[in-house]
Amino acid sequence: MSEPTPIPATKTVLISGGSRGLGLDLVRGALDGGAKVATFARTVTPELEQLAKERPDDVFVGSVDATDEKAVRAFIKDAAAHLGPIDSLINNAAIGQDSLHVHTSPERIADIIGTNLTAPLLLTRAFLRHAMAKVGRGRIVMVTSICAQRGYSGLVAYSATKGGLDSAMRALAREMHGRFLVNSIAPGFFASEMSSVLGTEQLSTITRRTPTGRLVEPANVTPLVKSLLFDDTNLNGQVIVVDGGGSI
Ligand SMILES: NC(=O)c1ccc[n+]([C@@H]2O[C@H](COP(=O)([O-])OP(=O)(O)OC[C@H]3O[C@@H](n4cnc5c(N)ncnc54)[C@H](OP(=O)(O)O)[C@@H]3O)[C@@H](O)[C@H]2O)c1
Repeated sequence: MSEPTPIPATKTVLISGGSRGLGLDLVRGALDGGAKVATFARTVTPELEQLAKERPDDVFVGSVDATDEKAVRAFIKDAAAHLGPIDSLINNAAIGQDSLHVHTSPERIADIIGTNLTAPLLLTRAFLRHAMAKVGRGRIVMVTSICAQRGYSGLVAYSATKGGLDSAMRALAREMHGRFLVNSIAPGFFASEMSSVLGTEQLSTITRRTPTGRLVEPANVTPLVKSLLFDDTNLNGQVIVVDGGGSI
């Protein structure tokens, strides 16, 4: 019997929520690493439009709501027709929360779970149905959060979705038998539209409790995700925490 070989480096990656924040940095990082990128968000930002214009053969963008499963499947089909088979996935799109659980409406809880947990599970399923048939091997990264491991007030439903995604990641890594390397990256708080709801007092408390004395930045997270996409790390089924040691 021949020895199993390492999973090849990513050639084409699908990134959800690549329009701004960490997602946009991941799009740039994946391109910089030599991959083609398909990415979507509900609104295509000028930054993303510009990238697609500059590199039409390498970037495919669309305006898609991650909770619309049919639209997501159509996007994968269109992206693959444009870029070629997609071998990797980064589940990045998510919405935040800043409300005590007792004050969060049932509709808002359903929205958070729909966008942050159900949608990535369905996107992963649609991606795998494509990638297993077309390429057979690849890599999956879930962008989760330190909130899945430590308690933060005002983030109950959000934390539940991120913990759910970490658990799904481990089960999927087992299910894929090494054909797809599946891992999570769990950042601490970083400045973005999502975290802009946090007040300066909350942010300075988090910074004070962080041994490195500074908040995480997308530039700290992207190199690790690039490693998961391109390197022969043999990492599988793991949650990589990037939080300056704030949670230790
Ligand atoms: N910021 C933090 O402190 C922090 C900490 C730990 C983990 N994270 C995680 O890091 C990831 C990126 O967060 P970020 O701070 O960069 O957030 P962000 O700036 O708010 O960006 C979120 C991205 O997801 C997209 N998105 C949201 N809902 C969507 C939907 N229904 N369909 C399609 N796209 C959707 C957004 O575009 P549209 O709104 O146009 O759809 C945007 O592109 C998320 O998974 C987040 O949970 C963030």
